[in-house]
Amino acid sequence: MSAVMQQESARAPLLSIRGVKTYYGNIIALKGVDIDVNEGEIVTLIGANGAGKSTLMMTIFGSPRAREGTITYAGRDITRLPTHEIARLNIAQSPEGRRIFPRMTVYENLQMGAAINQFAHFDADLERVTVMFPRLKERLHQRGGTLSGGEQQMLAIARALMSRPKLLLLDEPSLGLAPLVVKQIFDVIRELNRKDGMTVFLVEQNAYHALKLAHRAYVMVTGAITLSGSGRELLENPQVQAAYLEGGR
Ligand SMILES: Nc1ncnc2c1ncn2[C@@H]1O[C@H](COP(=O)(O)OP(=O)(O)OP(=O)(O)O)[C@@H](O)[C@H]1O
Ligand SMILES: [Mg+2]
Repeated sequence: MSAVMQQESARAPLLSIRGVKTYYGNIIALKGVDIDVNEGEIVTLIGANGAGKSTLMMTIFGSPRAREGTITYAGRDITRLPTHEIARLNIAQSPEGRRIFPRMTVYENLQMGAAINQFAHFDADLERVTVMFPRLKERLHQRGGTLSGGEQQMLAIARALMSRPKLLLLDEPSLGLAPLVVKQIFDVIRELNRKDGMTVFLVEQNAYHALKLAHRAYVMVTGAITLSGSGRELLENPQVQAAYLEGGR
């Protein structure tokens, strides 16, 4: 274990996943997953299509539920907590596939994100996310469903940020987006982590960007973690390069 890793593991895990097994019917999707996300870290999970990344994100929120193992958040066992109670714990997620409310306006979608903390800082937070994503500011009264794909992705992330989460879970924020938008979204994540100390757990197929961004990373293959290390270590790992970093990126 490197000195850096020892230092990281000395920090308290904000999210700790231990031996988690999740099934769809009789089919096992997660085969006993162990992951730690320490306070103040950006941790990424990479893996091929169907590896189980989204299943893990959803299992953290209790749907589907882990059949075995434990999920601990801020020292509290949340494995069997109802989903709506998990959402109140200062964990926000931007799920895969830009799941915004299509018939609501951009503004109303952002209100939904702020509802969880009783609109405590609505104006300041609205200002903050519209500075991050000026596109959304121009379109506050447009319906979510009529936004472009990239704009919907920005809205999904902005909505998650409206609740001022301590832990932000992002499932493939770069999916289907132009390189410039991907860069913008990753810059926002980096800034939120550096300036606000927001802890981020990021699922990505865009392994090059995710590993460059992340302090630590895990690789998932068919429902099991096969590799972990610092973002840099995995970027330089020949197995990772061969499987996830086509042509070195
Ligand atoms: N509701 C479901 N019912 C049955 N099987 C499912 C369900 N959802 C996912 N699966 C299966 O579980 C496995 C893991 O899927 P998951 O969506 O977690 O993968 P992923 O790593 O997020 O993939 P991708 O990168 O394509 O998003 C896949 O084989 C998938 O077909
Ligand atoms: Mg997925």
